Amino acid sequence: MNDGLLSIENLSKGFSSSGRRVAALDNVSLTIAAGETLGLVGASGSGKSTLSRILLRLVAADAGSIRFEGEDWLALNGAPLRRRRARMQMVFQDPLAAFNPLASVGAVLDDPLRIHGVAKDRRPGEIVELLERVGLTADHAGRPVRALSGGQRQRVAIARAIATRPSLLVLDEAVSALDVTVRGRILELLVDLQKEQGIACLFISHDLAVVRAVSHRIAVMDGGRIVEVGPAAAVVAAPQSEAARALVAAVPRLVTDPC
Ligand SMILES: Nc1ncnc2c1ncn2[C@@H]1O[C@H](COP(=O)(O)OP(=O)(O)O)[C@@H](O)[C@H]1O
Ligand SMILES: [Mg+2]
Repeated sequence: MNDGLLSIENLSKGFSSSGRRVAALDNVSLTIAAGETLGLVGASGSGKSTLSRILLRLVAADAGSIRFEGEDWLALNGAPLRRRRARMQMVFQDPLAAFNPLASVGAVLDDPLRIHGVAKDRRPGEIVELLERVGLTADHAGRPVRALSGGQRQRVAIARAIATRPSLLVLDEAVSALDVTVRGRILELLVDLQKEQGIACLFISHDLAVVRAVSHRIAVMDGGRIVEVGPAAAVVAAPQSEAARALVAAVPRLVTDPC
């Protein structure tokens, strides 16, 4: 890919559980271009979260390499890694697990701005801008996170993720806990942000309908491997692998009535 932002090559990771070796990732290679949304879909246990945790440097890989913004991402450590983390941010399924529920929304958004060197007097203004960008208002800054609805919390999580001006967002089951209406609105927000700001996304879900709604390309995982990758419409209309066919069959209206 010409302006490759992220390039993952031959990534492998095994876990030992009850004496058995599980290949959570088996020679996974993927690329994401600047501004692209790549959907990563697969059944539960196919290795999606392991891939996201390795990308975020929460878990070490056994083998393979990752280039991100031209750097050897897995070789970065210490202060340089902390600085570069601003460029790759994560949105999890459960926003409450990601921040202190007693903290105010303003404090949650102040943290990344402070850590990444935004001057104190500029931070309140940036917090309001961030809130408005994700469809909330300045009023929300003073509220505790636990007083918000699930959808509002996920908006705060997205605001926090984009606060450091990342070039890549990794979203792992980010809308899976939300009811259908709220989920639709959050997906719309993601598509808008992506268009307005050109942030690339790795959008991970077990649900092909959700992935289809936001992705330019879709990669399908099965048993730790990428078994298929192609333009989103093509993967949905003419799935090539067994795993992709099973995911398409699970959403019968997908081909005729895309989201
Ligand atoms: N910390 C761990 N210890 C042992 N096995 C793990 C661990 N994390 C993941 N696995 C195993 O790796 C495989 C892939 O898991 P995961 O990446 O969570 O898949 P997904 O996100 O697609 O559901 C599963 O078989 C899972 O049980
Ligand atoms: Mg997972």
